Amino acid sequence: MRALVCKQYGPPDTLRIEAYPDPVAGPGQILVQVVAAGINFPDLLAIAGKYQVKTPTPFVPGNEAAGTVLSIGPGVRDFSPGDRVIVATRGGAFAERCVAYEKMSMRMPVELDYAQAAGFSVTYGTSYHALVQRASVQAGETLLVLGAAGGVGIAAVQIGKALGARVIAAASSAAKLEFARAAGADALIDYSTASLRDSVKEICGGDGVDVVYDPVGGELAEQAYRALNWHGRYLVVGFASGDIPAFAANIALLKEASIVGVWWGTWAEKNPGLQARNMQKLAELLAAGKLVPQTSESYALEDFRAAFAAIAGRRALGKVILQMMPLAASSSV
Ligand SMILES: NC(=O)c1ccc[n+]([C@@H]2O[C@H](COP(=O)([O-])OP(=O)(O)OC[C@H]3O[C@@H](n4cnc5c(N)ncnc54)[C@H](OP(=O)(O)O)[C@@H]3O)[C@@H](O)[C@H]2O)c1
Repeated sequence: MRALVCKQYGPPDTLRIEAYPDPVAGPGQILVQVVAAGINFPDLLAIAGKYQVKTPTPFVPGNEAAGTVLSIGPGVRDFSPGDRVIVATRGGAFAERCVAYEKMSMRMPVELDYAQAAGFSVTYGTSYHALVQRASVQAGETLLVLGAAGGVGIAAVQIGKALGARVIAAASSAAKLEFARAAGADALIDYSTASLRDSVKEICGGDGVDVVYDPVGGELAEQAYRALNWHGRYLVVGFASGDIPAFAANIALLKEASIVGVWWGTWAEKNPGLQARNMQKLAELLAAGKLVPQTSESYALEDFRAAFAAIAGRRALGKVILQMMPLAASSSV
């Protein structure tokens, strides 16, 4: 099969499209004909050799895809060849075929096309787990989302609204904030021009926020942390800025606040039952029209450099996907 291969750690233009051995579905796994795969910020880290878990080279990156089931491994009960599926993988998705565990896969909801489905699993899976299991967001609470127009960010905006929270979207440009507003955000902060902490106070009438969702880190983190309310929860989701923040413990004491880590992929593997339930809830929210996955850029595999540049260049609105086959041809798959 054709695949995008990382032979040595480095920037995306060191990747190569090459022939690669076909994967085989092992116990509990399904083999999928990939129509499209979602690019996530962690893919940049993985190919640079900077992700939390380092994959030995050579490897095929990519952690999520949408396509059809080609075959099933021993013990698989819920899927059959021909089913349209969304899968989360540990690598391997930027290829014509990939394998995924049944427990990390779901039937493709009818509301989604392949472009939306390819980018659904990681972003919505992460943000739902973060807001529901890790922060227990309640209706009426205020949620501040940093990097709100990015992949996980825009999913957090939509899920926060669906949970009944008041959502403040924060991002680095007017265009990104308009994107977040269209996805349901109640209030907006452009942190490239305004102080995050002062803006929160202004929006909240002197109060702070109950939950911060932070996939960015860096200098924004300190301001957002200090903007927490009594019993506030600070969700540590990622460090797209490249800087891992440090938090002053006295603020946690003074507000009985919590700093809460989020690592969805590992949590999902350790808790397959809860993960399946989360995906079911997400499917229900999709069917109710409360979530509308946003894929703004879609590239053929050959154009992978441009696709990665959208993420690395901080330009992406919602998701960027790679097509393993022309999407126009996918209706027959
Ligand atoms: N914990 C988990 O389970 C989990 C799961 C998935 C992803 N993540 C993490 O979440 C973060 C976001 O992932 P994503 O796939 O949603 O990425 P993304 O779509 O690229 O969004 C990242 C956002 O971060 C902001 N940003 C600030 N400085 C940046 C920089 N130097 N380069 C790029 N973006 C920058 C940008 O928003 P502004 O321009 O508005 O600032 C951008 O929209 C990553 O750190 C990723 O590793 C964590």
